[in-house]
Amino acid sequence: MKTEDRFSLKNQNIIITGGGGKLGFYHAFAILEKKGNPILIDLDKKKLIQNKDKLFELFNKKVSIYKIDLTKKTQLIKFFNHQEKNKIMINALINNADINSKFNDLNENLRIENLNLNFWQKHINAGLTGNFLISSLYYKYLCKFNLTGQIINISSDLGIISPDQRLYKDTKKNFKQQHVKPISYSVVKHGLIGITKYFSTYDTKRLRCNAIAFGGVKVNDKKFEKRVSELIPLNRMANAEEYITTMQYLLSPKSTYVNGSTLIVDGGRTII
Ligand SMILES: NC(=O)c1ccc[n+]([C@@H]2O[C@H](COP(=O)([O-])OP(=O)(O)OC[C@H]3O[C@@H](n4cnc5c(N)ncnc54)[C@H](O)[C@@H]3O)[C@@H](O)[C@H]2O)c1
Repeated sequence: MKTEDRFSLKNQNIIITGGGGKLGFYHAFAILEKKGNPILIDLDKKKLIQNKDKLFELFNKKVSIYKIDLTKKTQLIKFFNHQEKNKIMINALINNADINSKFNDLNENLRIENLNLNFWQKHINAGLTGNFLISSLYYKYLCKFNLTGQIINISSDLGIISPDQRLYKDTKKNFKQQHVKPISYSVVKHGLIGITKYFSTYDTKRLRCNAIAFGGVKVNDKKFEKRVSELIPLNRMANAEEYITTMQYLLSPKSTYVNGSTLIVDGGRTII
């Protein structure tokens, strides 16, 4: 019997938005490990270069990076024109960019009573509008070259359930001063699951679309980590490396019957 690497991504070109971020690095790792070519897009050039350098050290391969604001259609059109000029056929798009307010960034201004409309708009623009813009241009690119492809939207356990605001509670503060995870995070992460379903039925001969709802990755705050872990049946937060194989599976030609789904990888957080 012939053996093969069932999850090979050899010669596949795969865009990762938010490629300069924490999980962007692991998605790129997943692709490089299976011999594919990640193309990293991010607002933040410094972070893009850091990820590129770390990946080069590990794989001895130069990955392409592009400083692009996903909310700017002209920048995205220029990017796709550049891929076209260089005859780069894009096999998949991972919509991973977001304004992911970390535990330490949370504050009382994010409460619904205080939320600044600029913050709301900025978050919706980055997390939903930007992801929609690049997805629509990617779909047009596939049509133009008569290609098939797929989109993977990175949602979250908070795309399935509500944030448990008790996690962020400071006993020294009264109710109105408590820090919260902003409502825009729920809207973006639930919205991405809706976008996933829409794209997954739109042109099934050409495009497959799925979402992944990841649970929280370990942070540098033992107290917070302990509180979150108590809500997770596996009793711990994730190691980012644990997300690599999920990505390899969904990107691979061995998952061709998976479409429109939300793969939940959260240690069981959302079932209780
Ligand atoms: N880290 C976690 O614990 C966790 C858990 C579940 C889901 N997620 C999801 O995974 C994804 C990645 O999370 P992360 O922890 O790596 O976050 P991160 O903040 O490290 O990375 C997000 C990246 O998106 C980029 N970005 C934001 N707006 C952009 C725009 N307009 N144009 C281009 N780039 C833009 C940022 O510059 C940043 O580098 C997010 O969608 C997040 O919601 C993360």
